[in-house]
Amino acid sequence: MTNKLRMRELIGCGVLIVAILYVVYKYLTRSKRSLDKKHVVITGGSSGIGKAVAIEVARMGANVTLIARNEEKLHSAKLEVMRNCIHPEQQKIQYFSVDVSENYEAIEKALDAAEEDLGPVYMLVNCAGMAICGKLEDTNISDIKYLMDLNYFGSLYPTKVLVPRMKCRGEGIIVMVSSQAGLLGIYGLSAYSATKFALRGLAEALHMECKPYNVSVTLALPPDTDTPGLANEEKTKPLETRLISESAGLIQPEVVAKRLVVDALNGTFYSTVGFESFMLKTLCCGMTPVVSLEELFLQVFLMGGFRLISSVYLASFHRIIKNCMKTRDTTKKAE
Ligand SMILES: *[C@@H]1O[C@H](CO)[C@@H](O)[C@H](O)[C@H]1NC(C)=O
Ligand SMILES: *[C@@H]1O[C@H](CO)[C@@H](O)[C@H](O)[C@H]1NC(C)=O
Ligand SMILES: *[C@@H]1O[C@H](CO)[C@@H](O)[C@H](O)[C@H]1NC(C)=O
Ligand SMILES: *[C@@H]1O[C@H](CO)[C@@H](O)[C@H](O)[C@H]1NC(C)=O
Repeated sequence: MTNKLRMRELIGCGVLIVAILYVVYKYLTRSKRSLDKKHVVITGGSSGIGKAVAIEVARMGANVTLIARNEEKLHSAKLEVMRNCIHPEQQKIQYFSVDVSENYEAIEKALDAAEEDLGPVYMLVNCAGMAICGKLEDTNISDIKYLMDLNYFGSLYPTKVLVPRMKCRGEGIIVMVSSQAGLLGIYGLSAYSATKFALRGLAEALHMECKPYNVSVTLALPPDTDTPGLANEEKTKPLETRLISESAGLIQPEVVAKRLVVDALNGTFYSTVGFESFMLKTLCCGMTPVVSLEELFLQVFLMGGFRLISSVYLASFHRIIKNCMKTRDTTKKAE
């Protein structure tokens, strides 16, 4: 009787100690970085995820520089971001109209001007990007090159300008926006997926280069997000691609933006929302940086099971593609 009681007390004590250790661990590893009074630069900042990120950081007290092509859209985005500032008299929101896919010197000039106005850049969020859908044989070379210029070089150029300055100051945050299609190749996204895979390689290597200088790198992997860009893509999307990506659902840019900012401040490497993205990032973690013990444990214990589940998803994707092929064949014959 007393033995049983003692056992129970012992287990109770054990649980309590583990709980206390966990709370202390969380406290010690909590995110200490803030964006108050910091300068944040966002490319592709005039719409979609970029604009949502701008609003999010404005709510945290940051001064914001928006970079995009369309001056009109930039102006209306600026007004919208200004309405979300917490210190409206002190926070400054500005924009530069630059095509990030075009030339390095123009971007360097714009960033120099941005730093002159609002001080050194603390966080760079590379949101500029787009998708052109279609099977490889249906996508022309100039479109394929344009995607690489915009999605890959459009993120690399501003990053290359700012990384040495951040390292020099010993602080900073770089965020790249890849995609679920940056971890998984999908039918009809051959040209697009490759550009988003490229960003993953860049981010992984850059993380290793920047870590000793207290500069963190985060790669966001959003699923299909409800943006003007997506509405545009829908026009060129093959049926197969639409059916496959539909299974992941549609997410709001504000949700992606909130998660992205929290993860960037924490220094998390992959930033995702939703269960399917969680599964994908766990499956594809490979040699990605270890930034938290919890995440490492989850990866170690979940990877095998997730691989099994992924085979079911893949089988369903192949079924969709086969069915589309059959339907096309029969309609062709009917003609
Ligand atoms: C990230 O930051 C949030 C809020 O600052 C915190 O609640 C969360 O536990 C952090 N996550 C990690 C993995 O550190
Ligand atoms: C940035 O914003 C803060 C308020 O959040 C303000 O005090 C500061 O003057 C701003 N910096 C510049 C360079 O405008
Ligand atoms: C490539 O295709 C796009 C349509 O997606 C078209 O606007 C463009 O003119 C084409 N370029 C060439 C060189 O054929
Ligand atoms: C790293 O950067 C953060 C701000 O991002 C700063 O608060 C912290 O003191 C820096 N740590 C070191 C070791 O320089």
